Amino acid sequence: MYHDTFMQESIKKVEAAREANIRLDPRRMTAEEKDILLKTYHPDYRQEQFAELKMGPNKGGKVPVELAALLQGNARITSDQLDLTKPDYDVDVLVIGGGGAGASAAIEAHENGTKVMMVTKLRIGDANTMMAEGGIQAADKPGDSPAQHYLDAFGGGHFAAQKDLLYKLVNDAPEAIRWLSELGVEFDKAPDGTMITTHGGGTSRKRMHAAKDYSGAEIMRTLRDEVLNRQIPVVDFTAVIELIKDDKGHCAGAVLQNMETGELLIAKAKTVILATGGAGRLHYQGFPTSNHYGATADGLVLAYRAGARLLYPETLQYHPTGAAFPAQIYGALVTEKVRSLGAMLINANGEAFMNPLETRDVSAASIIRECSDRGNGVPTPEGFAVWLDTPMIELKNGEGTIEKRIPAMMRMFGKHGIDIRKEPILIYPTLHYQNGGVKITDDGQTDIENLYAAGEVVGGIHGRNRLMGNSLLDIIVFGRNAGRNASQKAKSVQVGELTLAHIDTFKKELADAGIDTDVVSPKLLPDYTRKV
Ligand code: FUM
Repeated sequence: MYHDTFMQESIKKVEAAREANIRLDPRRMTAEEKDILLKTYHPDYRQEQFAELKMGPNKGGKVPVELAALLQGNARITSDQLDLTKPDYDVDVLVIGGGGAGASAAIEAHENGTKVMMVTKLRIGDANTMMAEGGIQAADKPGDSPAQHYLDAFGGGHFAAQKDLLYKLVNDAPEAIRWLSELGVEFDKAPDGTMITTHGGGTSRKRMHAAKDYSGAEIMRTLRDEVLNRQIPVVDFTAVIELIKDDKGHCAGAVLQNMETGELLIAKAKTVILATGGAGRLHYQGFPTSNHYGATADGLVLAYRAGARLLYPETLQYHPTGAAFPAQIYGALVTEKVRSLGAMLINANGEAFMNPLETRDVSAASIIRECSDRGNGVPTPEGFAVWLDTPMIELKNGEGTIEKRIPAMMRMFGKHGIDIRKEPILIYPTLHYQNGGVKITDDGQTDIENLYAAGEVVGGIHGRNRLMGNSLLDIIVFGRNAGRNASQKAKSVQVGELTLAHIDTFKKELADAGIDTDVVSPKLLPDYTRKV
C-alpha cells in the first residue's frame, strides 16, 4: 500500500507503460559502457571510502575504512592471559562457523572418521546461508557444461577469479547438487522429476536450481539435520576471538569466548577450518544489508592477525535489489529470481532503463545512476529507489506464478500491505556479499599451515564480482573440500606447544606503523545503539 502521492503518481506511469515495456528487451551494455558506469557509480570506486593498510600481510593494499579499523585493531586478550597447556577441548578438526560452509566441512570431516567439533557465536544455521533465496548454479543439463559455467563466472568476475578455484567450483557443481539432493534438499522439480532451472544475471544458460525463493533455508535445514544426526558436537553462543598457533607456527586451535558469560576457553586442534562468513553488518558506506546479524568480518580479522593474506578485500557486492520501502524491510533481499522470472527495473517515469539481467555490479551501478545524476528515482524516507515491476511476472508466466515460485517475496511485502502480484515494489542496492577474503589454495588451505578456510570468508573464487547462485555453490564445494582435506591432514599432524605469540608480534607491528587505536577486534556483533 503506497500512501505517498509521488509514489502513487509514479505507479500510474509504470502501469501505463507496462504493456509496452513488457515487449522490450533492453539491450545489454557494451564492455566500454559498463566500465565507465562502474567507475562512476559503483561504491567500490569511491576512493574516500577506502583506507590503505599500514601493516600486516596486505600492507599497502586498500580495504573499506570500516574493515581497516578492525584489521588494524587490538586483540581482545593478551598473549599471557591463558594457560594454553590445559585446553578445554582437544579435537582433530575445529570448524569455526555455523553456516553452510562450516556444516558441509564438518560433515565431510566426520565422514572421514576424524573427531570434529563446530563452534559458532550464535546457533548452527544463524548465517547468510539461511538467508539465501534465489538458488544454486550447476551445469548439469543438456546444452550446458562446466566450461560454459566457467566462462560466465570468469567474465562476470572481471577475469580476476583464481582459475584453479573457479575450475573446481564449476566442475564439482553437479556433484554438489547430487549430494544435497541425496541428503534431502527439496529442489523445485517439473512433474517428470527433472529439476526446474532458471537464468541469473550474467548466465548464458538456465542453470539456477532453487527451492522456491528460500533455497538457502532449505539447504541449511538439511545440512543442520545432517550435523545433528551425526551427533557432531556444536558449541553454540561461543565466539572465536583469536587463533592459536603451535611453536612451529602452524595453526593449532582457537581461543573461544562464551557470548553470555564472557568465559574464555581453549580449543586445541590438529587442523582448523575458518567458515565465519561475510561482513554485511559492517554496513560499508552506510549501506543497508541483506546479511545475517552475525556477519561482522570476524574471520578476516582472525586470519589477518595470524598472518594470512587477503585477496580482493576491496571488492564488495551490492545486490541491486534490496527492499527500499517500507522502512521495516529496508535492505532486505529481493531475490534476483524476481528478475529471472521477468520483472523489469523501471524508473520513476515508467521507463525500463536497463536490461534486468546484467551482472550485479553493473545493475547496482545503473540503479544508483538512475537515482542520482539522472534524477529518475522515486523519493523514499531513506533516499531514492526505482521500481521492480513484479506484476509483469504473472503477465509473462501466467497467474499463480508468484505464489508458486517466489512465495517468500509475496509474504514479505504482503505483511506490509503490498500485493506484489498487483503492485510494483521499490528497490535500491543493499550490501550483500564480500567478493574478497582469505586467500586459499585449491585444497582449501590458507597461508598458515593447518588453517583452512571455506565459504564467504574466502576471496578469489569469484574474482571481483560474483554471479547469483555461485555462493550457495561455493559453500558446498569448498566447505566439503576443506572438510576432506583438513581431516585427512589431521591424521598426520603432531601439534607442538601452543602459543599466542602472534598477538605480541601483531601488537609490535601496530606500534611500528604508528597505529594507536582503541578499536578492539574481532567485532563479533554489530552495534545498533543510538549515538546521542
Ligand atoms: O538474489 C538472490 O537470490 C541472491 C543470490 C545470491 O547471492 O547468490
